Amino acid sequence: MKLTRRAVAAGLPLAIAQPALAAPLRLGEAAARAGLRYGTAIEPQTVENDPAFAALVLDQCDLITPENALKWNALRPDRNHFDFAAADRVAAFARRARAPMHGHTLVWHEAIPDWAIHELKTGDPRALLVDHITTVVRRYAGRVVSWDVINEPVERNDRRPDGLRKSPWFEALGPDYLEIALRAAHAADPKARLAIADYGLEYDDIGWMVEKRGTMLDLLRGLKSRGVPLHALALQGHLLGDHPPAFGAGLSQFLRQVAALGLAIYVTELDVNDQHMAGDIAQRDRSVAEIYAAFVRAVATEPATQIVVTWGLADRYTSKVDFFPRPDGKPVRPLPFDADLRPKPAAQALADAFASRRRS
Ligand code: G3I
Repeated sequence: MKLTRRAVAAGLPLAIAQPALAAPLRLGEAAARAGLRYGTAIEPQTVENDPAFAALVLDQCDLITPENALKWNALRPDRNHFDFAAADRVAAFARRARAPMHGHTLVWHEAIPDWAIHELKTGDPRALLVDHITTVVRRYAGRVVSWDVINEPVERNDRRPDGLRKSPWFEALGPDYLEIALRAAHAADPKARLAIADYGLEYDDIGWMVEKRGTMLDLLRGLKSRGVPLHALALQGHLLGDHPPAFGAGLSQFLRQVAALGLAIYVTELDVNDQHMAGDIAQRDRSVAEIYAAFVRAVATEPATQIVVTWGLADRYTSKVDFFPRPDGKPVRPLPFDADLRPKPAAQALADAFASRRRS
């Protein structure tokens, strides 16, 4: 067994330190050498109840995202109270890791409690939104260094000319909800980097994704031209295991256009959905690794890219189990480390993809 620097810092006993690897792999270090920051999304109970998993996160990650603890349904039991318990537990772990946090998320059409949906229809939606953002962003100022202020604002199927999703926020406040939220977040913590995050921007050969890039660019341009505080576009990066990697000139050009607006690029929810992938475990793992490699190489080549966060670190804990189970009943394997916390080919692929940035 090898006792890593991070495990020692965390006061973890030898028995749960990461097993020695032939060539020690630290994704955080590989990213940092390339001028990137690598991290993962976590739930507080996993790192509290599973010391081996906590040690792996401490060893590999330099950025922590609360997977669910900063969502409205976690923070807001009712109109008059905030419950920061779960988010504070994630913040305590991030402190142990000596890592900043990326905040997820202040405005989303999901994970809104029923009382808030009601209030959006009958109360003062602007006050509700601004009060929430001000309270939450102020509390974590200096610890949450970047925020998914708005998550998933574009839904072309809602058939609005501007492509905006008809979310509860949109229905209550109209298109202005984006600007209201971003200005409130900026006022609450002027140093925090503010992002808009969305899925379905990754693939060059999926028509609706290519179109969504255009819609997103228009949205970003509009906000920037009005001087709205906005610092980054976050690509979620939920990649498709049953679709060939298609991260070529189209993606590069899109990232260039985003960067030309003065925005940074984040990847905030990276994983590979292996729900419908054929083959044995070794074949699947190789294909998953190739998909990670192709995508991260493409985004890492863009100088504006700053952050890469995977939506989980090891297959032991992934919401893909619930949302995308395999029809053959076998465990899903979407993340860089396996359920036994051993590095998979995807982990090495990520490290190599980070390193490729230094050579490009
Ligand atoms: O906390 C309860 C627990 O008490 C209960 O026993 C359990 C039973 O199902 O449910 C638990 O809550 C679940 C929670 O995850 C924690 O596990 C919710 O039902 C479930 O809806 C929630 O799902 C999360 C989902 O967002 C909705 O908020 C997933 O963990 C999370 O991975 C997923 O993340 C989203 C991003 O926020 C946005 N982008 C897509 C991504 C999913 O891939």
